[in-house]
Amino acid sequence: MLIVGLNGSPHKEGNTKFLLNAVLNKAQSQGAETMIIEVFDVLKTAKNNFCLVCSNPCSGKCYQGTELEKTFELLKKADGVVFGSPVYFGTVSAQLKAFFDMSRKLRGEKGLYNTVAAGVTVGNSKFGGQETTLRALHDIMLVHGMIIVGDGYHENDCGHYGVCSQKPSDQDSSALQRAEIVGKRLIEVCTATKNIRD
Ligand SMILES: Cc1cc2nc3c(=O)[nH]c(=O)nc-3n(C[C@H](O)[C@H](O)[C@H](O)COP(=O)(O)O)c2cc1C
Repeated sequence: MLIVGLNGSPHKEGNTKFLLNAVLNKAQSQGAETMIIEVFDVLKTAKNNFCLVCSNPCSGKCYQGTELEKTFELLKKADGVVFGSPVYFGTVSAQLKAFFDMSRKLRGEKGLYNTVAAGVTVGNSKFGGQETTLRALHDIMLVHGMIIVGDGYHENDCGHYGVCSQKPSDQDSSALQRAEIVGKRLIEVCTATKNIRD
């Protein structure tokens, strides 16, 4: 089972990455293979790092042969994807949005259809838009036909929208607990839905 984390923050050792690692470490402890993609790094390898609609429908020509193309191919193989975004003006980072704007070809191929998805977000403020950011992530997941899970697990409670954290995340014990729950829930739902991906 492969679970991929997408770091939508430009900070490679920041709070978003910390939360992604917390989810993935839990998933790994349950037997999953995990990895993290630095969205900003792979975006930079494309001719333009945001969509200019150079082909319609998207043929993927502006990122052919790049790390971005390899990343989209890798995502097709994932059982689960954890979307990580810092809260920027109450919503997802521009990098993560640009990454998904570039993913129309992947969507046309139904590359993420029935892949399990969860979100982690972090902001400076306690109520700085973590939930609105998760909702924006959920919109992207739904447009790709993904199966969304929140931060609930049968041994705990039903949870809510995903992991919401206030910076610094390594001091946010509630977010850390919810991140571990997401890790367990991902494994549960990835296992139960494996046959509809194959
Ligand atoms: C452009 C920008 C916009 C931001 N907007 C918000 C915001 O609306 N609400 C909030 O709580 N924090 C906001 N922040 C703070 C970041 O969400 C916060 O620093 C976050 O922890 C960054 O995660 P990182 O360490 O993974 O980069 C903003 C930061 C930047 C750079």
